[in-house]
Amino acid sequence: MQKTGKDYIVFPLDFASVKEAKEYVKLLDGKVGMFKIGLELFIDQGPSVVQMVKKESSAKIFLDLKLHDISATVQRAMERVAILGVDLVTVHCSSLAMLEKAVKGGKGKTGVLGVTLLTDNDANMVEASGFKDKFVKDPGLLVMHRAKMAYEAGCKGVICSGREVQHIKKRFGKSFLAVTPGIRPSWAFLENDDQKRITTPGQAITLGSDLIVIGRPIRDADDPAAAAQKVIQEIEAALSSS
Ligand code: C5P
Repeated sequence: MQKTGKDYIVFPLDFASVKEAKEYVKLLDGKVGMFKIGLELFIDQGPSVVQMVKKESSAKIFLDLKLHDISATVQRAMERVAILGVDLVTVHCSSLAMLEKAVKGGKGKTGVLGVTLLTDNDANMVEASGFKDKFVKDPGLLVMHRAKMAYEAGCKGVICSGREVQHIKKRFGKSFLAVTPGIRPSWAFLENDDQKRITTPGQAITLGSDLIVIGRPIRDADDPAAAAQKVIQEIEAALSSS
């Protein structure tokens, strides 16, 4: 089926209560392609939150668990996730073996997205973690190194910032997903915004992002459904001019 504007949007259910999350799922059903369930809600509610999203909407589900453990444990955790019937799960790109087991545990039902480098990790943190000098000098190289690991392990794609999308698409091809957070439409103004390396929806799509994670610009808008519609229009304009 042809992908339309809404299918590029991942809306994170970053809420402390399932009640609020449910309101937004109902409000945005048909306006976003995927809902992302993060640790806050999943730790509080467990698998019932996945069932809630399935019941209230036809959108896909992305469980942002950022798994990282010994390979056997990750495989077993992924086997449980596959039973839940979610479409995508995040796993840290820390070893090829772990990523391979994660993919195996997903059993072709749940795709693995590799987390390359968390955006709050700068060169100082890369150095403090003991990485080689070349990665300290250019953390972007570490992102590419880890994306290669994800690709070789059979992951569906990676999470990366807008600035890495083009490299990733060029090197690993069309079907390897580049999922981009840090999205800020030009019309959204958020006080004390913690996202630094931002791109607009249109820029991210033009660069080649397959999915954009966009939360607060929609969540905190006076009319969230209208804000999502504006993002859809921006995506469609970028698609038709690229
Ligand atoms: O658009 P907004 O900043 O509200 O989106 C926040 C969401 O994006 C959170 O769910 C967060 O986990 C996710 N995210 C992020 N930065 C990353 C990766 C994911 O903000 N580098």
